[in-house]
Amino acid sequence: MKDKVPDLQQQFQNSTVPELLRFFLEKFEMRIALASSLGAEDQVLTDLILKIDPGARIFILDTGRLPQETYETIANNMAHYSRSFEIYFPQTSAVESLVSLNGPDLFHESIEKRHQCCTVRKVEPLQRVLNTLDVWITGLRREQSVTRQEIQKIEWDETNQLLKINPLIDWSTEQVWQYIRGNKIPYNKLHDQGYPSIGCAPCTRAVNPGEDIRAGRWWWEAPEHKECGLHFRDGKLVRRNQS
Ligand code: ADX
Ligand code: SF4
Repeated sequence: MKDKVPDLQQQFQNSTVPELLRFFLEKFEMRIALASSLGAEDQVLTDLILKIDPGARIFILDTGRLPQETYETIANNMAHYSRSFEIYFPQTSAVESLVSLNGPDLFHESIEKRHQCCTVRKVEPLQRVLNTLDVWITGLRREQSVTRQEIQKIEWDETNQLLKINPLIDWSTEQVWQYIRGNKIPYNKLHDQGYPSIGCAPCTRAVNPGEDIRAGRWWWEAPEHKECGLHFRDGKLVRRNQS
C-alpha cells in the first residue's frame, strides 16, 4: 500500500472532498474509519461520510477527561444520524497505575508526564483501533498549527503502518463553519464559547481574539510541543522544518 501513495496523491490532487471520500469508502468498506474528536472538522467529515455511506465506521477515543459538551455532541450525533459510534476507552489498569503513581493531573508537571497521560489515554486506544483498519481519516488542517504544515491529503502513516487521509487539509476555518451552518449539523457548543480546538477538559481553554487556533490546547507548553502523539509523520511528531 505504501508504494501506491504517490499515485493516489496525484490521482486526487484536484478532486473534491466527497469524490475522495467516496473512492476510499467504497474501496475499503469496513477497513476504513473516521477518527472523530467531535470538533468542527470532524463534524463536517461525519456528515460528508454518512451521506456517502450511512453505515461507515466512525470512532471516538474517550480519554475519560473529555468536556461535558463533547459528550453532549456525541449524544446529539447519535440522535441526528440515528446510529451508534465506536467509542474506545483507555486500558483500565494503565489508567489506574498512572493516576495512582502520579495523581490525576500529572500533565501540568512536565512535558514527559503530559505525554505519559496522552499515551495511556489516547495513543494506546488509537493503536488498538488502527489495528482493525487499512485506512484512517482525520480532520487535520494545515491552518491549525505550525506542527501541521507538512501534512499531505493522502499519506502513509509510517508509525502505524496504514494509509492516512486528511481530506480537509486545505480548508479554512470559514469553509468549515460555512458547511456546519449551511447543513445545520450538530457541533460542540464550546466552539461558541471561544474554543476553536477542543481536547480533554483539563488541557483545553478558550482563546482570546487573535490568538492561534490551538493556543488553548496545553497552553502552558510551547507551540512546537502541542501534539499528543496521535499524529506522527515519518515516525516523528510533525514539526516545522522537519522532513
Ligand atoms: S490532537 O492530536 O491535538 O488531540 P486535534 O484535536 O487537533 O488533535 O484533532 C486532530 C484530529 O485528530 C481530529 O480531526 C481527529 O481526526 C483526531 N482526533 C483527535 N482527538 C481525537 C479523539 N479523542 N478521538 C478520535 N479522534 C481524535
Ligand atoms: Fe491527559 Fe491532557 Fe493528554 Fe487528555 S490531553 S490525555 S488529560 S494529558
